[in-house]
Amino acid sequence: MSGHDSDVARAREVLEAGGLVAIPTETVYGLAALISHAEAVRRIFAVKGRPVDHPLIVHVADVGRARVLSRNWTPAAERLATRFWPGPLTLVVERSRDVDPVVSGGLDTVAIRCPAHSMTLELLRSLSVPVAAPSANRFGRVSPTSARHVLDDLGADVDFVLDGGDCEVGLESTIVDCTVDPVQILRPGAITEEEIRVVLNATAPAAGPSRASGMLESHYAPRCRVVATSDREEARRLSSRPKARLIDAAHDPESAARSLYADLRRCDADGIAEAVVLLPPATGIGLALRDRVLKAAAGR
Ligand code: TXA
Ligand code: MG
Repeated sequence: MSGHDSDVARAREVLEAGGLVAIPTETVYGLAALISHAEAVRRIFAVKGRPVDHPLIVHVADVGRARVLSRNWTPAAERLATRFWPGPLTLVVERSRDVDPVVSGGLDTVAIRCPAHSMTLELLRSLSVPVAAPSANRFGRVSPTSARHVLDDLGADVDFVLDGGDCEVGLESTIVDCTVDPVQILRPGAITEEEIRVVLNATAPAAGPSRASGMLESHYAPRCRVVATSDREEARRLSSRPKARLIDAAHDPESAARSLYADLRRCDADGIAEAVVLLPPATGIGLALRDRVLKAAAGR
């Protein structure tokens, strides 16, 4: 067995014994438990310090395993899953009785996604039930994009960390509510509204107010103050003050998305008081990037 194979085997053992495993995905690391172990799922909420009415995302190996988790798998869900999975897209659908309400915070719906990461896909295929996994950070803090970030945040509270390297996208998945028609984007991510519209052959999906906890004002926050601006001159001026640092998210938004959370964590580690983020235009991944940065900047 290669190192990767034995790590995946170990992750499987820990999950099947009712433990918590941090799993790599293309977006951010997740903190996983088998959905059949209600006690383990409850421990996820406890470890994160997350309110129990904030639903988790169920991670599956393929579309077939998603369909059975819903009592109304819609044509829109089918088309989106078939086109974008494995990938950074989460679908909210009506929950079937196979999904314990503890997973979805007592809601009648459940959020499901199939992550694009070879080790995690191998793990999910080897399990007979899916896992529930929120991002592997304490509630309200910056999401982890490396195994090191998970250990820094959760330490001994996680039973095993499956190290799959740095996350390739770096921002949480796009969430689409498929229980309404037209579908509604609850959280922007790497899969854009434009791409979704093309697949559904639809007019713009509404990106209105959302029920997702990621929409809470003070989410994704580092300890340092975050200031956001679209004005390069202003960014330069603000970041030249003592204990300030510039994060340029405008020059190359894809790469900025990949490194944003690591950059914010580094600001904290280096004792920076103010991270000044130069915002990208609101197109493509820029929309998700702006969303996360503005949330980190909100109310501080
Ligand atoms: O990229 C991702 O989605 C990552 C990786 C680990 O897959 N996961 C993630 O999970 O970001 P978390 O728990 O940090 O955020 C999940 C979001 C929350 O905002 C939650 O409110 C929303 O998904 N959500 C979950 N179930 C929902 C439901 N049934 N209806 C509406 N929103 C839901
Ligand atoms: Mg999160």
